[in-house]
Parts: sequence; structure tokens; C-alpha cells
Amino acid sequence: MHKDVAEVLVSREEIHEKCIELGKKITEDYTAKGEIPLLVGLLSGSVPFMSELMKNIEMDICIDFMDVSSYDGTTSVGSIRIDKDLSTSAADRSILLVEDIVDTGKTLLEVKRMLANKGAKEVKVVSLLDKPERRTEDVVADYVGFTIKNEFVIGYGLDYNQKYRNLPYVGVLKREVYE
Ligand code: XMP
Repeated sequence: MHKDVAEVLVSREEIHEKCIELGKKITEDYTAKGEIPLLVGLLSGSVPFMSELMKNIEMDICIDFMDVSSYDGTTSVGSIRIDKDLSTSAADRSILLVEDIVDTGKTLLEVKRMLANKGAKEVKVVSLLDKPERRTEDVVADYVGFTIKNEFVIGYGLDYNQKYRNLPYVGVLKREVYE
């Protein structure tokens, strides 16, 4: 375990199993709808999760990325900034947004609004983690990997000042690292 991690919340094995389960559900749902989903990963936190999840979706899909949020330190910023927009047209597409974590829900709400304005037919959300205690916006993820308590977590894409994204598990960051 990394020296800055207080506790492992979700192991790499649990994430692996969950991606198989979510991939199966997503495959069933979109096959039933007869839609080819456009998976949109929110950079950079979604990269490991998106990579694992998409390999378990057994149908044709398209992928793209957006870079939207700036998360400085351990408190969420009020509004988001678009650093990279989609390369693909969102018009008339069934979009499946891929998130690392839904915290206050501000990012999700803004991005969903933005994609609806671009003419998306549908916008659903899959998130590795959900931290419902901190939610301020009326927004939910349609597919959730793990619901966690209100602690600052790192690993599997999640960072603290751009570090720890490569850890193969989700862990709680030691308070002494950011206090
Ligand atoms: P909101 O508040 O808009 O936040 O739902 C979503 C984004 O905030 C970041 N975030 C975290 N990043 N550990 C992190 O490393 C956390 O515990 C955490 N909580 C929120 C993350 O970038 C997410 O996409």
C-alpha cells in the first residue's frame, strides 16, 4: 500500500468484478434499446475506469473524452471550465458519461446540460464512485460502482494535486497529506 494511503476502500479485485457486472448491464440495456452508445470519459479521472469498463461492454460502442473540471485540493469548485470539448458530434447520440466520482453533482449537472444543448438524444451516467452525503444538486448516476462515505479518496484515476491516479485501488488519503 502507498505510504500516503490510510485505508484501502475498494480493492483492484472488487473494481475488476464490478466492471464485469456494469459492462454486462450496460450491454443488455443498450442492446435492448438498439442504440450504439457514445461513451464520453471525463478526463483525467475516468481513464482507468473507462478502460476497464469498456472492455466488458460486448457490443459496438464509440468513445470520446472531455476535460471539464478543475478540482484544486480537496474542495469542489463552484463552476466548471471546458479545457477539451468533444471531438465527435453529440447530436442525436445516446451518450453514456463516464465519471470517476459524483460528489456535489455540479460537474455532472453542467456537463449533462451542455450535452443536451448540443442535441444529444439521451445522456446517462456511469460512475465508479458515488459520495451521496455531499450532493448539493438534484442529479444521479444511472450506473454506480460503489457508494462511499464522505472521505477524500485517491487512486484508480482519482488524484490529489495530480498525484496517485495510477494506484490500482481506491484509498482514503491520509489527512496529514493535505492538512
Ligand atoms: P462534483 O462535486 O462536481 O465533483 O460532483 C466531481 C469531481 O470532483 C472530484 N472529486 C474528487 N477527487 N477525490 C478526488 O480525487 C475525491 O474524494 C473527490 N471528490 C470529488 C473528481 O474529479 C470528480 O470528477
